[in-house]
Amino acid sequence: MEKGVLITFEGPEGSGKSTQVALLAQELEKRNFKVLCTREPGGTALGEEVRKILLNKVEKMEPLSELFLYAAARFQHTVERIKPALEKGQVIICDRYLDSSIAYQAYGRGLDLQTVEMVNNLATDLIKPDITILLDLDPEEGLGRFKGRELDRMEKENLLFHRRVRQGYLELGNREERFLVFEADLDERELHSLILSKVLYYLVERGG
Ligand code: TYD
Repeated sequence: MEKGVLITFEGPEGSGKSTQVALLAQELEKRNFKVLCTREPGGTALGEEVRKILLNKVEKMEPLSELFLYAAARFQHTVERIKPALEKGQVIICDRYLDSSIAYQAYGRGLDLQTVEMVNNLATDLIKPDITILLDLDPEEGLGRFKGRELDRMEKENLLFHRRVRQGYLELGNREERFLVFEADLDERELHSLILSKVLYYLVERGG
C-alpha cells in the first residue's frame, strides 16, 4: 500500500462508535493491515488536555472558542499522528474528525458553515477522510443509553441541539460521497459485519 487510508467514525452521542472502532481495528489487524486507532479530541498529549477543558473543566464557553479548541486539538493530531501514519501506509481509524465540527459547531451551535470549514481546512491541512462511517441514531435513544452516569458538557446540551447535530450529519451523509451511513441500533455484531465488508471492499479495490 503506497499511501495510508483514513477511516473516520462519526455519529451522535451513544451511537456505539468506540465499540465499532475497536471491532474494525481487530479484524483489520488479523488481516495484517497496520492499523492506528485514535480519537478526537485527543490522541496527543495536547489533545488530551484540551479534551478535558472541552468536556469537563469549563462550563462557560463561546461557540467560536469551542471551535478553536477542537481545531487546536485537531491540528496537533494531524501533525503528530495522522500525517506520519499516512506516510507509513497505515490504516488510520479515527473516532471523530472534522465532520464532528460541522455537525456540532455549525449545525448544533449555529456557527457559520464557511467559518467552520475554513478553520477545519487549517486544522486538517486539507486531509480528508477516505471513508467516513456514520452511525445514525435518534438522539433520544442515544442519550438514553447514558442513564445512571454523569454527562459531559456536550452530552448535557438539550435535545434540540442533539437533533440539529443529527440533521447535520445526515445532510453531510447525503452530500459527500465518502460517507457510508448505517443504522446504529442494529445488533452490534451485525453492524460490525456490515461495516467490515464495506471497508474491506474499499481496501481491496484500491489495491491494499
Ligand atoms: P466523546 O466522549 O469522544 O464522545 P463520543 O464518545 O460520543 O465520541 O466526546 C467528544 C465530544 O466532543 C462529543 O460530544 C462530540 C464533541 N465534538 C465536537 O463538538 N466537535 C468536534 O470537532 C469533535 C471532534 C467532537
